[in-house]
Amino acid sequence: MADQAGDPLFHSHDPIFNRKELLHVGHVPDEDRIVGRDDEIESVAAEVGAITRGDPPNNVMIYGKTGTGKSLISRHVATRAQDAARTNEIDCGVLYIDCSEANTETRATRQLALSLKEQTDYQENIPVRGVGTMEYYQHIWQILEACFDAIIVILDEIDKLDNSNILMQLSRAREAQKTDAYIGVIGISNKVKYRETLDERIDSSFGHRELFFHPYDASQLREIMRNREDAFQPAVLEDGTIELCAALAAKKHGDARKAIEILKEAGELARRTGSEAVSEDHIQQAQEVAEINRIEELTSGATVHAKLALYALASRIITGDRETYKTREVYERYVGICELVATDPITENGLYRQLKEQAFLGVIESEKTGGGRSQGSYLLHRLVTDPKHIVKAVRRDSSLEELPTYDRLSGSESSSRAHDTDLSSFS
Ligand SMILES: Nc1ncnc2c1ncn2[C@@H]1O[C@H](COP(=O)(O)OP(=O)(O)OP(=O)(O)O)[C@@H](O)[C@H]1O
Ligand SMILES: [Mg+2]
Repeated sequence: MADQAGDPLFHSHDPIFNRKELLHVGHVPDEDRIVGRDDEIESVAAEVGAITRGDPPNNVMIYGKTGTGKSLISRHVATRAQDAARTNEIDCGVLYIDCSEANTETRATRQLALSLKEQTDYQENIPVRGVGTMEYYQHIWQILEACFDAIIVILDEIDKLDNSNILMQLSRAREAQKTDAYIGVIGISNKVKYRETLDERIDSSFGHRELFFHPYDASQLREIMRNREDAFQPAVLEDGTIELCAALAAKKHGDARKAIEILKEAGELARRTGSEAVSEDHIQQAQEVAEINRIEELTSGATVHAKLALYALASRIITGDRETYKTREVYERYVGICELVATDPITENGLYRQLKEQAFLGVIESEKTGGGRSQGSYLLHRLVTDPKHIVKAVRRDSSLEELPTYDRLSGSESSSRAHDTDLSSFS
């Protein structure tokens, strides 16, 4: 081939990354890159595995925080079960439904029917609109009867479904003589309370086992990242970088997706600044950016008042000498902040509810403290993360960018007179 010098504007060689796609958010790692989840893989296999021997499977619910490998492991086990079934001459289908998109029974059954059709040579037309749930179920039962001995249905983010009737339909299908095929359901949720929301009838017919996936610890995260080291050019990652990244991620959240993102961001940073290697310093910086992104993501659906409440708590911590503050103290600061951004404050009780919501999201922790018999009990709020990150994340909301920066709050930037007056209202 002729020498292609190409346009010098675009470097043909990436000095940092070799196979960057290994670090992309949507990348599904190959089997041999899944590490640190052997026990979980075995537990899921134990529930659905009977299918591979032609026996009825158990339904299972997998709970766990974000980035703990729930989706990955479910798909992995289901595919392996399908392969194992095939060697025993059992036709097992695998269906994956993301219930955050297919969030109604009609959408979910439509997707089930359509993906079943896609996997078989079912000839009947399945309309995409204008028909109801019952018709989709009819297609599902017919395809199952005609083409499968068993199926594994993964219902990811199952708590996003507006009703859980589909669980009852799937678990009663054999009993109701809709089909002879065995159906194993793997439900996935990061809301541990999901089961409590289930109708008693559905809960009892679904009769599932429950598994909990815990956040990854530092050594598991290290293994996961080591297994993708070839995303980088040889010798680009300095010694200790993966260890540091794993330690930081384990301390904050134990989320594998976030850990990988930090590694990728550190590489980008190294490349942007023209460095030849990724250093611990790059990891530290990338971790800060990732943490701010995480908070922004967590609070993205929150109201302006929730953001202002968070900002108020952060600002009290920055300007004060304590780590925890009472609702009343946060409220006082919040009212001053509302003035800064020309917003009418909500009531103290409303703010209390906003804080409780944030506690649910895992951004703050609230603890009930007894103030002695006469004083009654009250809540003390603390931030789970660095207040600096909260200030940055909240200021990214374009309607709140007028709020003082961290440097201004902490006094490390010489503030202008105008802002001296601003801050004086924060008594
Ligand atoms: N054990 C593992 N080995 C290798 N990579 C992993 C492992 N666990 C997670 N990952 C990586 O982290 C990403 C996130 O995992 P996954 O999507 O399974 O998490 P999840 O628990 O479903 O999170 P969410 O609740 O946010 O959906 C995966 O795409 C994968 O790249
Ligand atoms: Mg998932």
